[in-house]
Amino acid sequence: MDTDDFSEPDFSDGFRSDFESLLSWRRDVRHFRKDPVPDDVLERLLELADRAPSVGNSQPWRIVRVDDPERRAGVIQIHEEANREASAAYGTSEKAEAYRKLKLAGLREAPVHLAVFVDPDPEQGHGLGRATMPETLAYSAVGMIQTLWLAARIEGVGLGWVSILDPVRIGCILDVNPSWSFIAYLCLGYPEKNYDTPELERKRWQARTPLSDRILKR
Ligand SMILES: Cc1cc2nc3c(=O)[nH]c(=O)nc-3n(C[C@H](O)[C@H](O)[C@H](O)COP(=O)(O)O)c2cc1C
Repeated sequence: MDTDDFSEPDFSDGFRSDFESLLSWRRDVRHFRKDPVPDDVLERLLELADRAPSVGNSQPWRIVRVDDPERRAGVIQIHEEANREASAAYGTSEKAEAYRKLKLAGLREAPVHLAVFVDPDPEQGHGLGRATMPETLAYSAVGMIQTLWLAARIEGVGLGWVSILDPVRIGCILDVNPSWSFIAYLCLGYPEKNYDTPELERKRWQARTPLSDRILKR
């Protein structure tokens, strides 16, 4: 829409404060209650996420809702195998025992499973902006996921990102276009409990560090 005939939103101090709370209370969730997420809630969240920015306005994300129990069981198997390998890679290091105690997915409990892929050559966007950096398509999909993460939190729905998976096997098991790249497997559902600190911090795996550690000036 290209018109001046609109009223711009006026984000109030209350909204700003709520937004800060949203960012502080968004969590990666691995402990879900079993009650379902109503379809209309999920649809609304996906509509909101679909407003995310994308290179050339290409909206290259492709979202697969995985409901079929056999496919879900296949994904769980792929995760468990990948997790065993990841665990073994820690060997006898200091972190090995701690890794084994972490819960790194809520695949069995989460009522909603979404797999996110990216189309490497979407017609939409006509290639704009991605000639030198094709990876911007994947970045766009990640922006969509982050938008979904925040929108879900507002509705009380938790999201857990599972990446301990073999991406090629996930594409096969979900029978998607072989040219698509796998970006993320997302578990959604109502969290058992809400927290304002990451689970990896609470479990003493990795705490957040100050922003100043990550800012450079040139
Ligand atoms: C790209 C990406 C991949 C992730 N993969 C996993 C995963 O496989 N398993 C998991 O438990 N958490 C995963 N996470 C969640 C992170 O562990 C989590 O975001 C981080 O510990 C900070 O916690 P918070 O999201 O609650 O702030 C992933 C997050 C991102 C952004």
